[in-house]
Amino acid sequence: MGLFQKLCNQTRTPEGFLGKLMAGGMNIGHAKLAEWGMSSLRGIDASAIVDLGCGGGRNASELLKRYPKAKLTALDYSKVSVEMTKKTNRQAIRAGRCSVVQGNVAALPFEADRFDLATAFETVYFWPGLEKCFAEVHRVLKPGGAFLICNESDGTDEVTLRYAKIIDGMAYYTVQQLQNAMKAAGFSEIKAEHHPEMPWITVLARK
Ligand SMILES: C[S@@+](CC[C@H](N)C(=O)[O-])C[C@H]1O[C@@H](n2cnc3c(N)ncnc32)[C@H](O)[C@@H]1O
Repeated sequence: MGLFQKLCNQTRTPEGFLGKLMAGGMNIGHAKLAEWGMSSLRGIDASAIVDLGCGGGRNASELLKRYPKAKLTALDYSKVSVEMTKKTNRQAIRAGRCSVVQGNVAALPFEADRFDLATAFETVYFWPGLEKCFAEVHRVLKPGGAFLICNESDGTDEVTLRYAKIIDGMAYYTVQQLQNAMKAAGFSEIKAEHHPEMPWITVLARK
Protein backbone atom coordinates (compact mmCIF):
# COMPACT_ATOMS: atom_id res chain seq x y z
CA MET A 1 0.00 0.00 0.00
CA GLY A 2 1.46 3.41 -1.02
CA LEU A 3 1.76 6.36 1.38
CA PHE A 4 -1.26 8.17 -0.11
CA GLN A 5 -3.46 5.08 0.29
CA LYS A 6 -2.13 4.52 3.83
CA LEU A 7 -3.01 8.12 4.72
CA CYS A 8 -6.50 7.85 3.17
CA ASN A 9 -7.12 4.66 5.16
CA GLN A 10 -6.49 6.64 8.35
CA THR A 11 -9.88 8.33 7.85
CA ARG A 12 -11.53 4.99 8.71
CA THR A 13 -9.64 4.40 11.98
CA PRO A 14 -6.93 6.93 12.84
CA GLU A 15 -3.96 5.02 14.32
CA GLY A 16 -0.37 5.91 15.26
CA PHE A 17 1.56 8.82 13.83
CA LEU A 18 -0.33 8.98 10.50
CA GLY A 19 -3.61 8.76 12.42
CA LYS A 20 -2.67 11.78 14.53
CA LEU A 21 -1.84 13.71 11.35
CA MET A 22 -5.16 12.67 9.82
CA ALA A 23 -7.30 13.47 12.90
CA GLY A 24 -5.72 16.95 13.07
CA GLY A 25 -6.16 17.35 9.32
CA MET A 26 -9.84 16.39 9.54
CA ASN A 27 -10.41 19.14 12.12
CA ILE A 28 -9.28 21.65 9.50
CA GLY A 29 -10.40 19.91 6.30
CA HIS A 30 -13.99 19.19 7.41
CA ALA A 31 -14.67 22.57 9.05
CA LYS A 32 -16.53 24.16 6.12
CA LEU A 33 -18.61 21.06 5.49
CA ALA A 34 -19.53 20.82 9.18
CA GLU A 35 -20.42 24.54 9.33
CA TRP A 36 -22.79 24.06 6.42
CA GLY A 37 -24.14 20.79 7.89
CA MET A 38 -24.87 22.39 11.25
CA SER A 39 -27.13 24.92 9.52
CA SER A 40 -29.60 22.00 9.15
CA LEU A 41 -29.93 22.06 12.95
CA ARG A 42 -31.87 25.36 12.96
CA GLY A 43 -34.82 25.06 15.29
CA ILE A 44 -33.42 21.93 16.99
CA ASP A 45 -33.09 22.35 20.73
CA ALA A 46 -30.77 20.07 22.74
CA SER A 47 -29.39 19.79 26.24
CA ALA A 48 -27.73 16.37 25.82
CA ILE A 49 -25.78 15.80 22.60
CA VAL A 50 -23.72 12.89 21.31
CA ASP A 51 -21.26 13.33 18.42
CA LEU A 52 -20.60 9.92 16.88
CA GLY A 53 -17.30 9.19 15.10
CA CYS A 54 -15.95 12.44 16.55
CA GLY A 55 -12.49 12.27 14.88
CA GLY A 56 -10.32 15.17 16.09
CA GLY A 57 -13.17 16.74 18.09
CA ARG A 58 -13.54 20.02 16.25
CA ASN A 59 -17.24 19.46 15.56
CA ALA A 60 -17.84 18.62 19.22
CA SER A 61 -16.34 21.97 20.21
CA GLU A 62 -18.43 23.82 17.61
CA LEU A 63 -21.61 22.10 18.84
CA LEU A 64 -20.75 23.13 22.41
CA LYS A 65 -20.53 26.74 21.19
CA ARG A 66 -23.83 26.52 19.32
CA TYR A 67 -25.55 24.89 22.30
CA PRO A 68 -24.04 26.83 25.25
CA LYS A 69 -26.29 25.19 27.83
CA ALA A 70 -25.81 21.64 26.54
CA LYS A 71 -23.53 18.82 27.65
CA LEU A 72 -21.90 16.78 24.91
CA THR A 73 -20.53 13.26 24.76
CA ALA A 74 -18.12 12.52 21.91
CA LEU A 75 -17.59 8.92 20.83
CA ASP A 76 -15.10 7.25 18.53
CA TYR A 77 -13.65 3.76 18.32
CA SER A 78 -10.17 5.07 17.57
CA LYS A 79 -7.90 5.73 20.55
CA VAL A 80 -6.09 8.44 18.56
CA SER A 81 -9.41 10.23 17.83
CA VAL A 82 -10.48 9.97 21.47
CA GLU A 83 -7.18 11.48 22.64
CA MET A 84 -7.31 14.31 20.10
CA THR A 85 -10.95 15.09 20.93
CA LYS A 86 -9.98 15.29 24.61
CA LYS A 87 -7.17 17.69 23.75
CA THR A 88 -9.35 19.84 21.45
CA ASN A 89 -12.08 20.08 24.12
CA ARG A 90 -9.95 20.16 27.28
CA GLN A 91 -11.58 23.35 28.60
CA ALA A 92 -15.12 22.04 28.09
CA ILE A 93 -14.06 18.76 29.76
CA ARG A 94 -12.69 20.71 32.73
CA ALA A 95 -15.94 22.70 32.89
CA GLY A 96 -17.91 19.43 33.04
CA ARG A 97 -19.63 20.04 29.69
CA CYS A 98 -17.87 17.43 27.57
CA SER A 99 -16.92 13.80 27.98
CA VAL A 100 -15.17 11.58 25.46
CA VAL A 101 -15.77 7.86 25.19
CA GLN A 102 -14.03 5.12 23.19
CA GLY A 103 -16.72 2.91 21.70
CA ASN A 104 -18.34 1.53 18.57
CA VAL A 105 -21.57 2.90 17.11
CA ALA A 106 -22.61 -0.72 16.47
CA ALA A 107 -23.06 -1.17 20.26
CA LEU A 108 -23.31 2.23 21.90
CA PRO A 109 -22.24 2.22 25.56
CA PHE A 110 -25.20 4.38 26.63
CA GLU A 111 -28.56 3.74 28.22
CA ALA A 112 -31.76 4.18 26.18
CA ASP A 113 -33.49 7.58 25.80
CA ARG A 114 -30.45 9.60 26.90
CA PHE A 115 -29.76 12.22 24.18
CA ASP A 116 -31.75 15.00 22.48
CA LEU A 117 -29.42 15.16 19.49
CA ALA A 118 -27.02 12.73 17.81
CA THR A 119 -24.68 13.92 15.07
CA ALA A 120 -22.56 11.97 12.58
CA PHE A 121 -20.20 14.00 10.39
CA GLU A 122 -18.25 12.19 7.68
CA THR A 123 -18.41 8.86 9.48
CA VAL A 124 -21.37 6.69 8.39
CA TYR A 125 -19.30 5.51 5.39
CA PHE A 126 -17.41 3.25 7.80
CA TRP A 127 -20.23 2.04 10.03
CA PRO A 128 -20.68 -1.75 10.05
CA GLY A 129 -24.28 -2.10 8.81
CA LEU A 130 -26.27 1.11 8.52
CA GLU A 131 -29.60 -0.19 9.82
CA LYS A 132 -28.09 -1.89 12.85
CA CYS A 133 -26.05 1.22 13.76
CA PHE A 134 -28.98 3.58 13.11
CA ALA A 135 -31.12 1.39 15.39
CA GLU A 136 -28.49 1.95 18.11
CA VAL A 137 -28.68 5.73 17.53
CA HIS A 138 -32.48 5.49 17.72
CA ARG A 139 -32.27 3.57 21.00
CA VAL A 140 -30.10 6.17 22.76
CA LEU A 141 -32.18 9.17 21.61
CA LYS A 142 -35.06 10.49 23.67
CA PRO A 143 -38.50 10.33 22.01
CA GLY A 144 -38.57 13.30 19.62
CA GLY A 145 -34.73 13.43 19.60
CA ALA A 146 -32.96 14.34 16.36
CA PHE A 147 -30.31 12.51 14.34
CA LEU A 148 -28.19 14.50 11.87
CA ILE A 149 -25.97 12.90 9.23
CA CYS A 150 -23.63 15.16 7.26
CA ASN A 151 -21.61 13.74 4.35
CA GLU A 152 -19.39 15.43 1.80
CA SER A 153 -20.51 12.90 -0.79
CA ASP A 154 -24.05 12.43 -2.08
CA GLY A 155 -23.10 8.91 -3.13
CA THR A 156 -22.95 9.74 -6.84
CA ASP A 157 -20.12 12.26 -7.30
CA GLU A 158 -17.08 10.85 -9.06
CA VAL A 159 -14.28 12.58 -7.15
CA THR A 160 -15.20 11.29 -3.73
CA LEU A 161 -16.36 7.92 -5.05
CA ARG A 162 -12.74 7.31 -6.07
CA TYR A 163 -11.81 7.26 -2.39
CA ALA A 164 -14.19 4.35 -1.77
CA LYS A 165 -11.97 2.30 -4.08
CA ILE A 166 -8.80 2.97 -2.10
CA ILE A 167 -10.15 3.03 1.46
CA ASP A 168 -10.86 -0.46 2.81
CA GLY A 169 -14.41 -1.04 4.01
CA MET A 170 -15.68 2.41 2.95
CA ALA A 171 -19.14 2.78 1.41
CA TYR A 172 -20.81 5.91 0.04
CA TYR A 173 -24.57 6.32 0.29
CA THR A 174 -27.18 8.26 -1.61
CA VAL A 175 -29.78 10.31 0.27
CA GLN A 176 -32.34 7.65 -0.62
CA GLN A 177 -30.23 4.86 0.88
CA LEU A 178 -29.69 6.85 4.08
CA GLN A 179 -33.39 7.68 4.31
CA ASN A 180 -34.35 4.03 3.79
CA ALA A 181 -31.98 2.85 6.51
CA MET A 182 -33.25 5.55 8.88
CA LYS A 183 -36.86 4.53 8.24
CA ALA A 184 -36.00 0.86 8.79
CA ALA A 185 -34.34 1.80 12.11
CA GLY A 186 -37.55 3.50 13.27
CA PHE A 187 -36.89 7.17 12.43
CA SER A 188 -39.53 9.51 11.00
CA GLU A 189 -39.86 13.14 9.78
CA ILE A 190 -36.79 12.55 7.61
CA LYS A 191 -35.57 15.64 5.74
CA ALA A 192 -32.59 15.94 3.40
CA GLU A 193 -30.68 18.99 2.18
CA HIS A 194 -28.20 19.21 -0.69
CA HIS A 195 -25.55 21.94 -0.95
CA PRO A 196 -26.28 24.14 -4.00
CA GLU A 197 -22.77 23.78 -5.47
CA MET A 198 -21.06 20.87 -3.74
CA PRO A 199 -22.09 17.19 -3.46
CA TRP A 200 -22.59 17.76 0.28
CA ILE A 201 -25.71 16.39 1.98
CA THR A 202 -27.42 16.38 5.33
CA VAL A 203 -30.16 14.01 6.42
CA LEU A 204 -32.05 14.89 9.58
CA ALA A 205 -34.59 12.60 11.25
CA ARG A 206 -36.58 12.35 14.46
CA LYS A 207 -37.15 9.47 16.84
C1 LIG B 1 -13.46 10.62 8.42
S1 LIG B 1 -13.43 10.66 10.17
C2 LIG B 1 -14.56 11.99 10.56
C3 LIG B 1 -14.28 12.60 11.88
C4 LIG B 1 -15.15 13.80 12.28
N1 LIG B 1 -16.52 13.43 12.49
C5 LIG B 1 -15.06 14.90 11.25
O1 LIG B 1 -16.06 15.22 10.59
O2 LIG B 1 -13.97 15.46 11.10
C6 LIG B 1 -14.35 9.24 10.66
C7 LIG B 1 -14.26 8.94 12.13
O3 LIG B 1 -15.27 7.96 12.44
C8 LIG B 1 -14.71 7.01 13.31
N2 LIG B 1 -15.49 5.76 13.16
C9 LIG B 1 -15.65 5.03 12.03
N3 LIG B 1 -16.42 3.96 12.26
C10 LIG B 1 -16.76 4.00 13.58
C11 LIG B 1 -17.55 3.17 14.41
N4 LIG B 1 -18.12 2.05 13.94
N5 LIG B 1 -17.70 3.50 15.71
C12 LIG B 1 -17.09 4.63 16.20
N6 LIG B 1 -16.33 5.46 15.45
C13 LIG B 1 -16.18 5.16 14.15
C14 LIG B 1 -13.24 6.89 12.88
O4 LIG B 1 -12.43 6.37 13.88
C15 LIG B 1 -12.92 8.35 12.55
O5 LIG B 1 -12.41 9.04 13.67
